[in-house]
Amino acid sequence: MKKPIIIDTDLGIDDVVAITAALFSEELDVRLITTVGGNVGIENTTRNAVDLLTFLGKDTPVARGVGVPLVSKPKTASHVHGSTGIGEYRFEAKANEALLSDENAIVALKNHIVHSPEPVTLVAIGPLTNIALLLKTFPETLDHIEEIVLMGGAVEGGNSTPVAEFNIFADPHAAKIVFDTDIHIVMCGLDVTALTSVTNEDVEKLKNKGRAGEMVYQMLHYYKHAYSDGKITIHDLCTIFYLTRPNLFDVKRANVNVVTEGDAAGCTITHFTDDGNVSACVGADVEGFRNELLTVFEGIS
Ligand code: RIB
Ligand code: CA
Repeated sequence: MKKPIIIDTDLGIDDVVAITAALFSEELDVRLITTVGGNVGIENTTRNAVDLLTFLGKDTPVARGVGVPLVSKPKTASHVHGSTGIGEYRFEAKANEALLSDENAIVALKNHIVHSPEPVTLVAIGPLTNIALLLKTFPETLDHIEEIVLMGGAVEGGNSTPVAEFNIFADPHAAKIVFDTDIHIVMCGLDVTALTSVTNEDVEKLKNKGRAGEMVYQMLHYYKHAYSDGKITIHDLCTIFYLTRPNLFDVKRANVNVVTEGDAAGCTITHFTDDGNVSACVGADVEGFRNELLTVFEGIS
């Protein structure tokens, strides 16, 4: 039986790769996609989600979420993903607007979670604003969430500041709410995403792997401007491969305290302890990861 998941996304380029891999995986049942402001504004992240699903011929519902952080000033990563969030790529087909739910993301998340016969896994690949509001508004969902697999944070380092990763830095107050619950969280932070960087050659190979491969190739060809040494980090894809190929990763249990104010805002202070609620990814098989990327797109017709 496929694992039911909901993906919460600030649909930028690495999000596209992750969502596409999830939608065509044999292991995952993507029940809903919710959008949040992050890489770019909520209008674009939501537009990108509907356009991507239309392009892929999928009927997964999309629910628009919150466009601004709980407290912090909005930040974007448009310098990495471009002004629209998908580089210079443009989806040509007329979007299937019926995919866009009338419910906002928080209500849609609650309804899908509480009505699911089995617990749902949340995959969070953007700032955690929607997830925090879900847990605060509908605490009854806590009992119906299997775990949260998120791209965010770092045991050491940062990409928005020296000590903070973008998804956490963009909304540290939301991240604190999520990490302070006792839900099991898999943290795919910069420590592990940096270990799974793919090469220019890997990206070039995607070009000849069907419509989806060509689409992702175009976006990654733009995205790689933000990376150097020929190593391109598809951060969000770690969350999906953690779920479909967990053996690619090494994890250590921890508790994580999120700093919400001051110069260290967004820092995920990680205390390794066997009774922690967080499984922090600390290692990865990069050759296996690279091969899996090509295998996934080989299989998408
Ligand atoms: O720091 C990387 C994260 O920030 C990824 O989720 C990327 O899409 C951006 O949201
Ligand atoms: Ca993202």
